[in-house]
Amino acid sequence: MRIDIITCLPRLLDSFFGHSILQRAQQGQHVEVVVHDLRDYTADKHRRVDDYPFGGGAGMVMQIEPIAKCIRTLQAERTYDEVIYMTPDGERLAQPLVNRLSLAQHLIILCGHYKGVDERVREHFITREISIGDYVLSGGELAAAVLSDAIIRLIPGVLGDETSALTDSFQDNLLAPPIYTRPASFEGWNVPDILLSGHEANIDNWRYEQALARTKARRPDLLNE
Ligand code: ADE
Repeated sequence: MRIDIITCLPRLLDSFFGHSILQRAQQGQHVEVVVHDLRDYTADKHRRVDDYPFGGGAGMVMQIEPIAKCIRTLQAERTYDEVIYMTPDGERLAQPLVNRLSLAQHLIILCGHYKGVDERVREHFITREISIGDYVLSGGELAAAVLSDAIIRLIPGVLGDETSALTDSFQDNLLAPPIYTRPASFEGWNVPDILLSGHEANIDNWRYEQALARTKARRPDLLNE
């Protein structure tokens, strides 16, 4: 998979993608993340990528020209499954959408800034708009990082234990059950006996019951979906 991220703050993302599981994924050649500085695509001599809104009002608007140039340059090189715009008024991100996007070969993610992008970008270039939650960030970079992280960890070979992404909270509409590791007893706080029993079927059953009880208590909305 290849993910191209378009931003006017590339350094913010460089540090994120240079670390941990995402760096391992890139070194293992499972995924390539390429960050593009939108200012490299502007003809403005001051490298500006925004301007005042027509009709007046507060805030600046990201201009269509550099965005169009950047997206067209990328699209001339390969075919993209989606051109995604990160915005608080997009579809709210949840695991089923992450699962679907993890099957793509090529994705473009555009990060918004200031008041957002010229509406013509959304009409003519963007194929999907995604929000990571009902709150407003100062820019789309953190949202793009969240989306990329959620996608990349599902690509086969990226996680150490191939089965572990399948047992995540949300993967089957249930929250994850409690987990424990050594020591079996810490200051009198004991791990449930059943997990030490070695009886696989009983353990599976216990985990399911715990996941169900936790979901009913904390996120009953998930059970009605
Ligand atoms: N940009 C600003 N806020 C955002 C959000 N909540 N989700 C996605 N992109 C955003």
